[in-house]
Amino acid sequence: MASAMLSGADRTLFRGRTPNGLGFLGSDFHGKNFPKMNLVSTTRISKSRAIVPRCSISASRPASQPRFIQHKKEAFWFYRFLSIVYDHVINPGHWTEDMRDDALEPADLSDRNMIVVDVGGGTGFTTLGIVKHVDAKNVTILDQSPHQLAKAKQKDPLKDCKIIEGDAEDLPFPTDYADRYVSAGSIEYWPDPQRGIKEAYRVIKLGGKACLIGPVYPTFWLSRFFADVWMLFPKEEEYIEWFQKAGFKDVQIKRIGPKWYRGVRRHGLIMGCSVTGVKPASGDSPLQLGPKAEDVSKPANRLVFVYRFILGALAATYYVLVPVYMWIKDQIVPKGQPI
Ligand SMILES: C[S@@+](CC[C@H](N)C(=O)[O-])C[C@H]1O[C@@H](n2cnc3c(N)ncnc32)[C@H](O)[C@@H]1O
Repeated sequence: MASAMLSGADRTLFRGRTPNGLGFLGSDFHGKNFPKMNLVSTTRISKSRAIVPRCSISASRPASQPRFIQHKKEAFWFYRFLSIVYDHVINPGHWTEDMRDDALEPADLSDRNMIVVDVGGGTGFTTLGIVKHVDAKNVTILDQSPHQLAKAKQKDPLKDCKIIEGDAEDLPFPTDYADRYVSAGSIEYWPDPQRGIKEAYRVIKLGGKACLIGPVYPTFWLSRFFADVWMLFPKEEEYIEWFQKAGFKDVQIKRIGPKWYRGVRRHGLIMGCSVTGVKPASGDSPLQLGPKAEDVSKPANRLVFVYRFILGALAATYYVLVPVYMWIKDQIVPKGQPI
């Protein structure tokens, strides 16, 4: 797998962007800073600079052993409550409007008539960025949470969007349906991310683009501990590998993050990168997968459910506090210095 990752990285473009007003200090996989990247440049990663993360545990796990809140029933209940404060309390720490616009830029939403699906679209925060470029009537928001979708339905610019409940790993769209597939901050809940990315491939048209925005794996030990128990924080190489295995070509990854992090990535970021790939041939993905491992219809043991849910919510709290900590650091440490 390591060699597959290395050659994957070799063929993949990494893009970096300097957050406005701040030197882009970024971070490497060792928890320090990654080299400055130009505002708009794309950099081909060579084997000599290949990323070898110093992380103990792989972000991937068998789909049958999801992390806390990664089981679909847990995700459903998690958003039953989180949807109440999602837009006003949760999002501002992790997913700001300028990050969203930056992350959507590689999706190349260049025509108002494009058909776009926003998978795991939730309250429609990312969809609000999409409808700046594409007519709302051509956009479908899909999410597993009726509570999140209820919030999207209240947003005026989204009133012409189609809003449907569904599962990212089993999309209710025909093959070769959309011009663009967008999914932001949802992959971390999917027990089988490779299956979700294979679905992304299937539903877009020949030459269409998928843009998946998601978290990145931390390197700082405490953040890594919480990431390892809660949800899924993939490594950048994993995204690349999943896209390439699904059949995507021209896979690119762009690093994103809130401005006040000054590019720091050692704590991981719930919205840490935007990965894009182009569909080179019509039809289904060349990747063959067996049946879904997770059986959501099976009744869950209530005690185990509550135990997993509480631990998951505690780990989630840690990730609510990290951006606050980074914001305070940004206020204290003189500008231009690494934090
Ligand atoms: C962090 S929110 C992101 C929402 C939105 N994309 C945004 O940018 O604000 C993650 C969303 O993914 C949804 N989700 C989680 N697992 C899903 C699945 N298997 N299928 C569809 N949606 C899913 C959740 O219900 C939630 O609304």
